Amino acid sequence: MRQPLVAGNWKMNGSSDSIRELVDGILSGLETKAEVLVFPPSVYVQQVRDLLSGSSVKFGVQNVSDQLSGAYTGEISPLMAKDLGCEYVLIGHSERRSLFGETDADVAAKFCALVDQGLVPVLCVGETLSERESGDTMKIVAHQINTVLRTAGPERLANFVIAYEPVWAIGTGLTATPEQAQEVHADIRALLAENDPSMADRTRVLYGGSMKADNAAELMSQPDVDGGLIGGASLIAADFKVICHAA
Ligand code: G3H
Repeated sequence: MRQPLVAGNWKMNGSSDSIRELVDGILSGLETKAEVLVFPPSVYVQQVRDLLSGSSVKFGVQNVSDQLSGAYTGEISPLMAKDLGCEYVLIGHSERRSLFGETDADVAAKFCALVDQGLVPVLCVGETLSERESGDTMKIVAHQINTVLRTAGPERLANFVIAYEPVWAIGTGLTATPEQAQEVHADIRALLAENDPSMADRTRVLYGGSMKADNAAELMSQPDVDGGLIGGASLIAADFKVICHAA
């Protein structure tokens, strides 16, 4: 049985004050069977760590370098994420891929660097609208995942999470239907099973892309949807909690 996972990706939003308010709001009355985590902007991770202290809510960073230290201005080392108490790290978000030119190979290198430090990658994958319209959804998603599986090798695949985020649904209000999400999630699980059936059973596959308080329950009731990666709605404590409760 896979424990549902609900993750809030705050992207580049917030201030010390708004983050204090948001974390207080999330913690107040949060009751869920899901594992809950948040990805604040990295400069606020220490603050979030302090605010979450004593709660079951976890935190991580939104991106890391594949290097451990050195002359990489502006980058975040996996060692630093670990030092700050992160357990999960987001990699390969479509905004990193499209705005910062991250390739499947770059993402695979980050995956390996994280696993080697005992951190759990949350690997984001997903197709653009034109790729979906050309019927290439699974070709794109399979390439994104297979590059990681091949690069990492079986010994690094014990514990990771996949977030399927159709790019056309991110921040647009255009959510995939539960059937569309389930279809891709089932294909992702089948792809994992080709490598290792037990990996397919244990690996959680989250849906992301305009998941909101009013559509989360139906999306997460699909058999292969193991939770959500929430952007906009994770910035509103009440909405995020509704999603956590629905998981
Ligand atoms: O990481 C989260 C996703 O990009 C989804 O964002 O919920 O604002 O569409 P959204």
